[in-house]
Amino acid sequence: MHDFHGSTSTESTESAESAEDIERCLERHANKGMLRFITCGGVDDGKSTLIGRLLYESKLVFEDQLAALETDSRRVGTQGDGLDFALLVDGLAAEREQGITIDVAYRYFTTQRRKFVVADTPGHEQYTRNMVTGASTADLAVILVDARRGVLPQTRRHSYLVSLLGIRHVVLAVNKLDLVGYSQRVFDDIDAEYRAFAREIGVDDVVAVPVSAYLGDNLTARSTDTPWYEGPTLIEHLETVEVEDERGERPFRMPVQWVNRPDPDFRGFSGQVVGGVVRPGDRVRVLPGGQETTVARIVTRDGDLTEAVPGRSVTLTLTDEIDVGRGDVLAATDGSPGVADQFEAQIVWMGEHDMLPERPYLCRIGTATVQARITRPKYKINVDTLEKIATTTLALNEIGVCNVSFDRAVPFDPYTENRDTGGFVLIDRFTDDTVGAGMITHSLRRADNIHWQSVDVDSAARTELMGHGSQVVWFTGLSGSGKSTIANALDKRLYALGCHTYLLDGDNVRHGLCRDLGFTEADRVENIRRVTEVARLMTDAGLIVLASFISPFEAERRAARESIGDDRFCEIFVDTPIEVAERRDRKGLYRKARAGELTNFTGIDSPYEAPGDADLRIDTTVMSPEEASAVIVEMLRARGVIA
Ligand code: ADX
Repeated sequence: MHDFHGSTSTESTESAESAEDIERCLERHANKGMLRFITCGGVDDGKSTLIGRLLYESKLVFEDQLAALETDSRRVGTQGDGLDFALLVDGLAAEREQGITIDVAYRYFTTQRRKFVVADTPGHEQYTRNMVTGASTADLAVILVDARRGVLPQTRRHSYLVSLLGIRHVVLAVNKLDLVGYSQRVFDDIDAEYRAFAREIGVDDVVAVPVSAYLGDNLTARSTDTPWYEGPTLIEHLETVEVEDERGERPFRMPVQWVNRPDPDFRGFSGQVVGGVVRPGDRVRVLPGGQETTVARIVTRDGDLTEAVPGRSVTLTLTDEIDVGRGDVLAATDGSPGVADQFEAQIVWMGEHDMLPERPYLCRIGTATVQARITRPKYKINVDTLEKIATTTLALNEIGVCNVSFDRAVPFDPYTENRDTGGFVLIDRFTDDTVGAGMITHSLRRADNIHWQSVDVDSAARTELMGHGSQVVWFTGLSGSGKSTIANALDKRLYALGCHTYLLDGDNVRHGLCRDLGFTEADRVENIRRVTEVARLMTDAGLIVLASFISPFEAERRAARESIGDDRFCEIFVDTPIEVAERRDRKGLYRKARAGELTNFTGIDSPYEAPGDADLRIDTTVMSPEEASAVIVEMLRARGVIA
């Protein structure tokens, strides 16, 4: 459903659907009876045991699984001769032996009153990612605490995340109560402490249940050991808690996943309804474009529908021929989403590597993929004390508030109004890892008041005047690789040919434009961002720009190419082995770096990501700067930049 999903199976509720009312009624009833919940707790809090026992006691364990369980319990033997219910849940053999669960597992079970989907997420500190994945589709969270240990920092951190991700209902399962002699006082104290915290983070519906997952107390049957407890058993509460799915009442939203065009006569737009109800004849708006049209049909594999509710995957056809593509959102004309490219968002960082402000990350929002840059955080949250702390970055598991800017405007809702159109994930462009999850709070108005001013002298006119096309020739390579020497030779050649050029050089811009920047990763990201902007302006002015920067990171080089445009950008990898550059050491910097007098030096204690897809690679061990510049001139001819 929600895009925070890493790799969960999309649940298929494609029941045989006819247009008949009774069927529809049944389906609605079936959906209403579904509770999605997540369990959160530390490694030893007994989460898996709790879920395992719920599955077991709702008689959902099959005979063969039971046999395997007995064998495993004996072999792994964490519970003496008893059954280890956690083993039912901790799917993979390898995980079982390690004794921790390592990925989100979705389990389905049913009681007479309700169907359940439970996301079991590991409690290990670094697995925030899994928790975010599990929580983003859940209606309720079961938060486990060990009665002997009470409310821990991780209890608060999980609760904070749960609240951030839009879950309004929490069950506090105070587990292992048998180990504190079923003490009411222990239970009451934990309950009170937790409630106070929950109120502060905006979770109002908290129900605390004293349980022993191991012994089964108050899970499905009332425990005789807690006569003082008058509340429901865990399963009773899960069966009856009201978590009205409000999505149906909200305005219609469907992010378009793909355009379905099997033959010239049919053009449909496929996706999942994530808000509201859609019916044939409804007026809809296509965003970000803004065109209005009418829904003609709701097509599914099993025939047309008269309406589609949230969660349903459908193909819509429209009465008008409108250009609609993947990433667009079809929305109600009453209560359309906003369209913006700058936002304030809460960001949960899940990358091993700290967040780099201004680095271009890939961003998935709805079904759209854009490029996103995050500004330096306004603050991060200490989830224990809820204090706001000043920071320059977000590290693994940290949560902060940042401004985010996309490279184009997208339709969106605040996350609190729609998790699907208001939530996004951030992906590292080099490793393809999901490194962050974001929740939009609002768009930034300042973007609304700035427009593009159109200019009449266009690039064709400039080419005509200059006598050549504009281009950025981007040199990347280690310090001392020979970038600037080659760029300089090229500059002279182009000058001799009557070209208008400008050489932007790393050392030179650091005397002015980038004087405030050093050599940390964050500063290098910012250095290249600024230089890219300048190079782009200069190509707009019609120049051939020679940019010579170490530019050690793939993400920034790719962003430069995208921002300037493929046809106006070529990348030259000046490939000099570090031993060779170090032997030359014209500026004496390698010597200083080796002596520890210079830190963050590229190739020594700061990384260089060699480009895999440069337009040209120059091996300076076999080619002189003169030869290299001649090759580049030929390349510019071949690209049609110069005649
Ligand atoms: S980049 O990484 O941000 O692209 P840039 O090309 O602007 O670097 O600047 C690199 C130049 O700064 C090098 O050629 C070198 O002369 C100088 N320099 C000073 N300190 C360092 C350092 N720690 N790492 C790399 N280059 C450095």
